[in-house]
Amino acid sequence: MSTKVTFSSRLGLIAATVGSAVGLGNIWRFPAEVHSNGGAAFLIVYIICMLVLGIPVMLAEFSLGRGGRSDAEGVFRKLAPGTKWWVGGAIAIIASYLILSFYMVVAGWTFEYLWQSITGNLYELVQDTTADVDKGFKDKMAEYMCNPYNPLINIYVLIIINILVLMGGVKKGIERMSNILMPVLFVLLLIFAIFSLSLPKAAEGLRFFFTPDFSKINLNVIVNALGQTFFSLSLGMGILVTYSSYYPSKTKLIPTSLTVSVLDLLVAILMGIIIFPAAASFGLTDAGLAGTTLVFVTLPEIFAAMPLTRLWSILFFLLLLVAALTSTISIAEVSVAWLQDKYKKSRKAAVMIVMTPLFAISSICSLSFSTLSNIKIAGLNIFDFLDTLATNCMLPTASIITCLFIGWKLRSDFLRNEITNHGLTGTRIYPAISFIIKYCAPPLIFIILIGSFIDF
Ligand code: PHE
Repeated sequence: MSTKVTFSSRLGLIAATVGSAVGLGNIWRFPAEVHSNGGAAFLIVYIICMLVLGIPVMLAEFSLGRGGRSDAEGVFRKLAPGTKWWVGGAIAIIASYLILSFYMVVAGWTFEYLWQSITGNLYELVQDTTADVDKGFKDKMAEYMCNPYNPLINIYVLIIINILVLMGGVKKGIERMSNILMPVLFVLLLIFAIFSLSLPKAAEGLRFFFTPDFSKINLNVIVNALGQTFFSLSLGMGILVTYSSYYPSKTKLIPTSLTVSVLDLLVAILMGIIIFPAAASFGLTDAGLAGTTLVFVTLPEIFAAMPLTRLWSILFFLLLLVAALTSTISIAEVSVAWLQDKYKKSRKAAVMIVMTPLFAISSICSLSFSTLSNIKIAGLNIFDFLDTLATNCMLPTASIITCLFIGWKLRSDFLRNEITNHGLTGTRIYPAISFIIKYCAPPLIFIILIGSFIDF
């Protein structure tokens, strides 16, 4: 019997796993992807990708974590001693740490905007009726991000919050935080969805989001949907392997993977229901829906045009911060668990060893927009380089290795025993999942890897 710590309830383990999956990927990446890939057609392809790739790969990671009961690298060493398969886990851990270092910077921006919404500074420029509001918000965003010092304070505060939660441990830190924050996130989303649906041109926006034009589907749309599935479900980062090593033996993995994926999809769809009616009603252009502009320029503009500006703004940036925080915690846990398992560090020591260097590394990522902006690696600034290296290259590689390991290296009853709880449930869909992990997932993930570098 393993003595490893486990989550204390089913609700808690779902809240923690959904907390990891639901992040900035759902809130600002998903609407932008839907918009630039033809609306409802993308949504349909995305749902298919979740079913055929996302859920099976999630189950592979869950099986590895729960069956191996170790960290993201340790599971490989434990299940195939004396082989080199552990490299797959090592790549995932390094990638997750790199992602953590720049995700903290983005989380810091959301924190700043929450703070400025509370103080009202964000909306000072709107009081001057002669000013160009769009330009005003754009300048404000650029000025903030390119200022060397201001963003650092927010990053440091967030690192400290992460340290405090992580020090609390799996049950009292991660699980308790998720149990509180995830309901808050869903309530905030519902409030925004109801508001958006009451806007004058809501129907037009919903039509774009829900009426598919199948002629829009091409190879690029499919590759983008695969990539979004991967990012949104936190696959390939070692997170799901680490979290599932805290799942009790009786946890049923198939229902868990379905619940997590459906809730993750629900958040993405709610964001569509929020953004597209607003886009139609406020006449947003393509540029207004892209990446950072959507969140830091377009939405503040919309809030400024509404009654109760500051209240809406506070609620929205709180939503973003909650989503970002539960994700940073999950990704930091990958390295914390690794140090605890491999080097037998105490929880406190492991948390400090993981988080302290971030004060420097995340600062460097942040400064790559200002003081260090002239340092380029492969033509990219430090922030974008780390993003491309970790998200586009390392995550898919780690995931391909994981699928090959489970599909071809381990005996087939390993996956069967984990997924079916030793023959108790889900025995009928097991063959399909096993087939996908063996034959379909590796080439599909390879296409994501290639697809992020070339336009098909
Ligand atoms: N699934 C997360 C999202 O949608 C991705 C992520 C998780 C990124 C954890 C960083 C850390 O945003």
